Amino acid sequence: MSEEFKCDLERLFDISTNDSDLLTVQTTVDTGFEWQAVDECKEKISPHLRVVKDRGKIFFNVNSKDFSKVRKLRSVDNIYVVASIQYLTYNTENADTNLTLFKESVKTCSQLKKCLNAWKEITRFPGKLYPTLEDYQNVVEIYKAKKEQNKNDDKVPGSKKRGCDPKLGEENDVLSFRVSCERTGTHNFESSQVACAVGGQMQDLYHWIVDLTSYQLEVLYKITHGQVIMGLRVTPESLHRRNIKYFGPTTLRATIAYNLLSLADPKPGDIIVDPMCGGGSIPIEGALELRHSFIIGGDNHEKAVARSRLNFEALEGSFKSDLIRWDVMQLPFKNSYVDAFVTDMPFGKRMGSMFDNRVLYKKYLLELARTVRVQHGRLVLLTYDRRSMVGALQVAKNLLKVKKMLGVSMGGLNAAVYLLKRTKLTYEQFQLSANNVTKSS
Ligand SMILES: C[S@@+](CC[C@H](N)C(=O)[O-])C[C@H]1O[C@@H](n2cnc3c(N)ncnc32)[C@H](O)[C@@H]1O
Repeated sequence: MSEEFKCDLERLFDISTNDSDLLTVQTTVDTGFEWQAVDECKEKISPHLRVVKDRGKIFFNVNSKDFSKVRKLRSVDNIYVVASIQYLTYNTENADTNLTLFKESVKTCSQLKKCLNAWKEITRFPGKLYPTLEDYQNVVEIYKAKKEQNKNDDKVPGSKKRGCDPKLGEENDVLSFRVSCERTGTHNFESSQVACAVGGQMQDLYHWIVDLTSYQLEVLYKITHGQVIMGLRVTPESLHRRNIKYFGPTTLRATIAYNLLSLADPKPGDIIVDPMCGGGSIPIEGALELRHSFIIGGDNHEKAVARSRLNFEALEGSFKSDLIRWDVMQLPFKNSYVDAFVTDMPFGKRMGSMFDNRVLYKKYLLELARTVRVQHGRLVLLTYDRRSMVGALQVAKNLLKVKKMLGVSMGGLNAAVYLLKRTKLTYEQFQLSANNVTKSS
C-alpha cells in the first residue's frame, strides 16, 4: 500500500465523515481495468468525482441521494459503503489484545449508524435494523428452527451465491448478518477469529441474528497490514454474474465484457462484432449497454451459438443484435465494413494449444484487419497468449497499430488486452505489396 494511496483515501473518508449526506463507497474491479472503472464513474456520477484507486478496487464519495447512479456502474463487481478506515498497531506477543482492538474498533466507529441507515435505504431492507433485545429473543429460536427445516435450500448444487437479497425480507425480520474478514500480511491472529470477535461485538450492540449462509447484511472487515476497512456490502450478488443464465467453459465476466467494449470507444450507429463470442457475454453486454449500436456475435462452434441464443432469449426486451455461426477466418463482410471488433480470443492454457494459436492468430488478425473500417476501425482483443499475438501483430503491422496494451488478471492467470487501430492502408494495397514481396524474393 503506497503512502500516497493511504493519504488520498484518508482525505476522502474525512470529507464524508464531516458531511452527513456523503458516503464513501468502495467497489471491487477486475484487476488491470481500474482506469476503466474510474472513467465510468466520472461519466456516470460526475466528471469532477475524486476517485482513489488501488489494485482491484476504487473508492469515491457520493451523496446518498445519488446512490442510484452508483448502481448503474457496469465495470464494478461488489459495492460497499465504507463505515470505517482505521490504522491499528498490533501487539506482536498477544493475539487476544489484538482481538480486543478489533472489538473496540466497532464500538468507536462513529459512522456505523449513518452507514447502516444508508444501507437500509439503498438495499430496501424492510425489516428491523435496530431491534430490541426482546425482539431478538422473540424471533431467534423460530429463525433457527426455520433454518434447520430449510437447510437443504442453502445448498443449491454448483451455486456460489451467498447471502440473500435484503429487499426480499419482511417488516418483522430482525436483521441477519455475517462478518467476513479478509487479510493481507502476517499476523498472530486468524481471519476467522477476527470475524468472530467483530461479529460478536456487533451482535452485542445491535441484537442481530448471526447467519453465515443466508445473511441479509455482510460486513466486510478488510485488514491490509495495519489498515482496517469496514464496509457494508450493498450488492447481494457480484455484478459480474448479471446477464448470463447459461454458463459455458470459458464464460467471460460481464464486467470485463463491459470494459472491453468501452475500450473500443463505441459511437452511435457503430457496427460492433464479437467474432468468437462463445456464450455471448460480449454481445449481450453490448446489446444492453450500447443501445445505439448494432451488435453481432458469431462463433464456429454450434453449441456456442446456441448458448448465446439461449442467453439472449433469457433477457427481457428486444435488442439490435444478431448471432451467426461462422469461421473467423472467413467472415461474411465486405472489406472495411465493421466499426469495431471486440473479442476474447481462444487461449492456450484453458482451451486449444499454444502452437495452434501461433498459426491461427495470424489468420484471425488478417481477416479482422480486412473487414474492419480503414483508418477508423478499432479492435479490442483479450488474450492469454501474448507470444502468438506479438507474432500475429508483426505480420499485420501495416494494417493494425497498437494503441494501448493492458496487463490484466483473469482468475489468477495473466492476460493482456490489446487496443488496435486500423491504418489508412487499404486491404487491396496490403495484398498487392505482400504479393510483390513474394515475387521479388
Ligand atoms: C475464449 S472463448 C470466448 C468466450 C466468450 N467470450 C464467452 O463469454 O463465452 C473463444 C471462442 O472462440 C471460438 N472460436 C475458436 N476458433 C474459432 C474460429 N475459427 N471461428 C469462430 N470462433 C472460433 C470458440 O468456439 C470459443 O467459443
